[in-house]
Amino acid sequence: MAVGIFDSGLGGLTVLNAAQKRLPDVDFLYYADSAHAPYGVRNADDIYQLTRNAVQGLWARGCNLVILACNTASAAALRRMQEEGVPEGKRVLGVFVPLIEALTERQWGDNSPPREVAVKHVGLFATPATVSSRAFQRELAFRAIGVDVEAQACGGVVDAIEEGDMILAEALVRSHVDALKRKMPEPQAAILGCTHYPLMAETFQQALGPNVQVLSQGDLVAESLADYLQRHPNMLGDGADGFLTTGKPGFVSDRATQFLRRQISFEAA
Ligand code: DGL
Repeated sequence: MAVGIFDSGLGGLTVLNAAQKRLPDVDFLYYADSAHAPYGVRNADDIYQLTRNAVQGLWARGCNLVILACNTASAAALRRMQEEGVPEGKRVLGVFVPLIEALTERQWGDNSPPREVAVKHVGLFATPATVSSRAFQRELAFRAIGVDVEAQACGGVVDAIEEGDMILAEALVRSHVDALKRKMPEPQAAILGCTHYPLMAETFQQALGPNVQVLSQGDLVAESLADYLQRHPNMLGDGADGFLTTGKPGFVSDRATQFLRRQISFEAA
């Protein structure tokens, strides 16, 4: 019985880790499309094709539910996949909504009209594709009014993390935070809108300063997954757990082991 977790690479491990802590009895099958990462510099059609292939692979392996633990795929491919129709008994869900519900102080499924919320100035850090999709702002507008969002496309950060070059990743995060602060000097909250970025959460917090609330998706997505599975226990699926990659399994396993600080062994997808 496994729930599928998909990302272009290693970032989805930040969601997987939180989900495993929250749901220790649930098995997860993780799929990293490392051969095609980063997605954030691709066009929407390309991201859609790659995401659909990976999700179909997870469904074929017995997962009923697949979480797109990737904001870029959630922004560029999720709605199109849902509109084109998913096979009976299968579901695919993204990672935006739990985060936006937390930011806008909403309970799951609260569909009341948009209203004013406490946070007024929000910095969004995400990949170029997520920023240009404006998906985050669209979802936010359904739920809140009067929130000023300044988005910063963080080119290069995902590549550096995937390559294991954390010194470069840190330098890039600092320069992207500086760039955001030039546009919005005093954000109240910052959203790490790419699942790779929680791996750099300390650097973001240091660069933003102690007064900025830094929001990541791991725990929020894990909590909403727990809620979803309680209401839909049949979505647990019947596949086995594990870690799959379209990249080089040895290299990807080493990076994942370093990030999660426990032995992770990827196999070829
Ligand atoms: N972790 C993905 C996201 O949340 C990464 C993106 C990429 O491959 O560029 O957007």
